[in-house]
Order: sequence, then C-alpha cells, then structure tokens
Amino acid sequence: MILKVLKGKRFKEEFVVDADKSISHRCAIFSLLSEGENKIKNYLKAEDTLNSLEIAKKLGAEVREENNEIIIKAPEKIKEPDDVLYCGNSGTTIRIYMGLLASNEGFYVLTGDEYLRRRPMKRVINPLKNIGANIDARDNGNLAPIAIRGNKLKNFNYESPIASAQVKSALILAALYANKPSIYKEPFLSRDHTERMLKGMGAKIDQKINENNECEIEIFPLENKLSPLNITVPNDPSSAFFFAVAAAITNSQAIIKNVTLNPTRIEAYRILEKMGAEIKYILKEDKYEPIGDIEIKGKELKGVEVTQNIPWLIDELPALSIAMAVADGKSIVRNAKELRVKESDRIKAVVENLKRCGIEAKELEDGYEIIGGKVKEAKIDSFGDHRIAMSFAILGLLAPMEIEKAESIYTSFPNFFNLFKKIADYRIIDAN
Ligand code: S3P
Repeated sequence: MILKVLKGKRFKEEFVVDADKSISHRCAIFSLLSEGENKIKNYLKAEDTLNSLEIAKKLGAEVREENNEIIIKAPEKIKEPDDVLYCGNSGTTIRIYMGLLASNEGFYVLTGDEYLRRRPMKRVINPLKNIGANIDARDNGNLAPIAIRGNKLKNFNYESPIASAQVKSALILAALYANKPSIYKEPFLSRDHTERMLKGMGAKIDQKINENNECEIEIFPLENKLSPLNITVPNDPSSAFFFAVAAAITNSQAIIKNVTLNPTRIEAYRILEKMGAEIKYILKEDKYEPIGDIEIKGKELKGVEVTQNIPWLIDELPALSIAMAVADGKSIVRNAKELRVKESDRIKAVVENLKRCGIEAKELEDGYEIIGGKVKEAKIDSFGDHRIAMSFAILGLLAPMEIEKAESIYTSFPNFFNLFKKIADYRIIDAN
C-alpha cells in the first residue's frame, strides 16, 4: 500500500489517538497470571496487540467483549497450544511471552513476520537459559522461530547490559514462577508499565532507582494467583507524538487527549519543547499510570542535541528527526544504537529517507546528525516500519511524499488515517 500525502495545512485540532500499545500488550499477557475476570476498557485493536490477545486465547484464556470492554478469564493452568504462536511484527509480544512460557510447563513455538524474524532474541533467550530454560532458536539461538519446553526455572541475580523493558518484563515474569526471590538490574530505568501493573495486581515487586536512574528490582515468587485487572488503557503518547511534531513544524496547535504522562514515555515532548515548541501537560488522573492531556503550540524550531535519557524517547526518535529536519541548525542524536534493532534499522531508514527529501543527514554508529533545511517532494521507503511511515507522512505536510509499504501503520495505530485527514490531503493507492 502506498500513502501519497499531497498537501497539509495549519491547524488547531484535538486528537484522540489509539490506546497505548505497551499497556495493551501487558493487559493481554498479565491476565494469564490472574484469577477471575480481567476487565479492560480501551484495549488497542491494532494488529500487534490483537496478536497478543489471540495468543492468550491459544493458551486457554476465555476472551469476550461486553459493553466496550474486553473481558479475559485465564485458564486454571496455561494450556499447551496445538499450533505455533504468531507474534506478527511485535517484539513486545514475542519477548514478554518468552518469559512467561519458559517458566510454565508445555511446548511452545513463537514466530512472527519477516521483520520480527530478523530481530535479536538472545537478549531474552540467554538470561532465561542461564536459569535453566529449555529454549532454542534459529541462528544459534538468536532468531525466531523460537521453541520452548517450559519447566521450573531458578531464581536469579541478573544485571542486564541494556535498558530494555521487553527484557525486563520477560525476566520479571520468569521470576514470579521461581522458588526464591530474584534481582534484576538495568543500567537505566526503561518504561515501567510491567512493574506498575503487576504490583497493582498484587505481585510483590520492590524497585530502587538512584539519581542516575540506574534501577534494581527485587521480585518475589507468586504465592497465589494475581487479582484481575480492572483498567482503562490510556491513549498512546508515542502515537500522539506524530501529531505533536505536525503542530511543531506547521506553526499549528494540537491538543492530545488522555495519554499516559508516565515520565518514561514523554521525554520526546520535552525535547520538542527544548527545540522551541510551547507545551503544556495537564494531569487528570493517576491510578496505574498518570493520565492527562498535552497541548502543543508550534513555534520557530532550533536544532538540538539528544544524547541522554534515550530509552525514554527511543520510539519517538524517527518523528523527532522530522522536527530536526526543518529546525534551524544542526541536531545530533547519540547513544541510540538500539535504533538499529527496532522494527527496521531506524538510523539507516531516517538518514536515507531524509536525504531523499533534500535534507543533509549523516549516519553515526549510534545515531545521526541532521542539518535543518528546505524539504522537497520525495518517494519514501518505510522499510515496512510503521513509525518510519508515519514520520514521513507528517513531513508530507510540508512537501508531497509518496510512502511505500504504509500498511505497517495498522500494526500500531489503525486510526492514524482518520486523524491525519484533519490536517492533510492524502490518497491511498494499492490497498486491497
Ligand atoms: C516496549 C519497549 C521498548 C519499545 C517498544 C515497546 C515495551 O523496547 O521500543 O516499542 O512495550 O516493552 P525495549 O525493550 O528496547 O525497551
């Protein structure tokens, strides 16, 4: 599918984006650890999160929809599925399920689409193997498909070399089924939805974070099943960020409704502020997560250096690169090597596509340099990556863009096209 963005306009609009992807995945997966009915409002119905829910069903969960709520009832014991478990494009699905399934009896095979099957899985497989997991995978135990023979695992004291919420979540789940408490350390606090939600369900998890945001978590084995979730999933600040950038680059105004304001998720908005946009955060409630609105007013943008707190804005870097492309002066992103192993190599994808738009950009091993300039009409290769496709759709507000493989947008943000209509003229070609 090709997305042809023809023209954009200045706007003052409200955006109610789709539900948070990270939290929705966790609702589906963590329901399996509970007793009783989990009630989930505003579950994200995108390809990735529907795959997580489908897998929960294959593992024995009963799922039904009632009055706009998804209700999930876990089986007494996780059921051995009679087919492979398909995770589509989603790293979160495959990695978090690995931790759960490696520690629950049964045989499981996890796989995904051509992009997911290229992404590194050793970061979860190795620490799980070290505590006794029976896992094997293609490419010497690194690439999906992954085969797991679930069994009883040992407790651990593991210091992760990377700040990854997916690795952390997999190991926390494994630790809940061990016989003694475990310790997980990460070099920088990654998004903490797993800790917040599992604690909310009654798990005993103690977290210590120091002033450098180094993090140590103690996880105690489950004595009983967890209480069910009763949650309204907030909207996704990462999805909303495309419209924040849209406002920033067109001198417009965007009001983003009901997103999580969790500090591990809104750092990119802080950078946009540093570049010159005017931003207000309006906290409205705080149960599992702080939730509220964000208002963005576009102003002249200037170049910025982004080298810190990278895990808190990693998913928004492609969209930020669009603001950098039109800002006055040079911007630099460093310490962001993880970008190379996301849904695509996002360092390469950002730089190659910006060059096609006439913007001076250079790849670094762990980031890029961008010199702001005048954008020209271009054909964009999204590399099958939803966030690359949506980022360059936003750049289409300034010059016509033809974006290839735009169907990936449905993996995370199906309502994108409807909202985009408010601010741009576009056509979709080749949709079947
Ligand atoms: C996610 C964690 C992040 C993020 C991804 C979603 C999650 O990856 O990039 O889009 O829901 O746990 P890491 O595992 O690298 O933190």
